[in-house]
Amino acid sequence: MTDALPNIPDIMVESLARAEHLCVLTGAGISAESGLPTFRDKMTGLWAKYDPVSLATPEAFERDPDLVTRWYDFRVGEGGKHRPNPGHHALTRYEQWQRVRGKRFTLLTQNVDGFHQDAGSHDVVELHGTIRTWRCVRCGAAHRHEGEPFATYPPGCNACDEGILRPNVVWFGEMLPELAIERAHEAIGSCDVFVSIGTSGLVQPAASFGEAAQSRGALFFEVNLEATPLTAHVDAAVHAPSGIALPKLVDLAIHHGG
Ligand code: APR
Repeated sequence: MTDALPNIPDIMVESLARAEHLCVLTGAGISAESGLPTFRDKMTGLWAKYDPVSLATPEAFERDPDLVTRWYDFRVGEGGKHRPNPGHHALTRYEQWQRVRGKRFTLLTQNVDGFHQDAGSHDVVELHGTIRTWRCVRCGAAHRHEGEPFATYPPGCNACDEGILRPNVVWFGEMLPELAIERAHEAIGSCDVFVSIGTSGLVQPAASFGEAAQSRGALFFEVNLEATPLTAHVDAAVHAPSGIALPKLVDLAIHHGG
């Protein structure tokens, strides 16, 4: 173990210091310390009686587009009140370091909050889309949506004046964006180190990415508040808040890699 950081295994520090291509997969846990709830947290206030997973389906939108669009618009509003945390910023720092030394970094995220981009990460692969754009279910027009809440629910499309808008996210049962999945597969096939961060490892296909990379020879690590179904498969893990663990891990790796 590293002296100054007894909870960070040396193999993680050394692997990040040496990585030719580091691929990271993030989940809701990396944004938890920014103040955004994960999908396993109980919702509060007006939303306390709903299960977030049951609102994230095409069937829920079909049944009650008013409710589902209100919930996503609420999440856009929450995102606007919070900021990326040191975990997001540590990944940006690592990405820059890799770029300067001519090495690769791929950031795959299941998050739709846009916080990696706010922290300065380039080229984020958004596997589950983003809540910052919405699209018309009738004409397909895309609408940027980051500021004020919509005036009515479900919001109407001002391009065709007929359709309603839905968030540009991937709901349960829907296909992941083709380009995102292609980029994920390319990264899984070419990375030498894969780190799963703040994800419960319950939702496919992302849940199998780490083991797929590992089966092709990559080292597979986990950073999570607690053990997950992935823990049994990883080469090493840090079980601590990512906003504390990632800055330490990245500092040590950069220091170690000189
Ligand atoms: N630091 C690190 N990990 C954390 C922290 C933290 N501060 N807080 C929570 N976690 C971990 C939890 O232990 C849990 O394993 O983050 C994980 C969050 O799990 P989920 O809420 O299931 O989030 P995620 O894995 O991203 O969910 C995947 O499920 O509902 C769908 O489409 C949605 O993208 C989402 C997908």
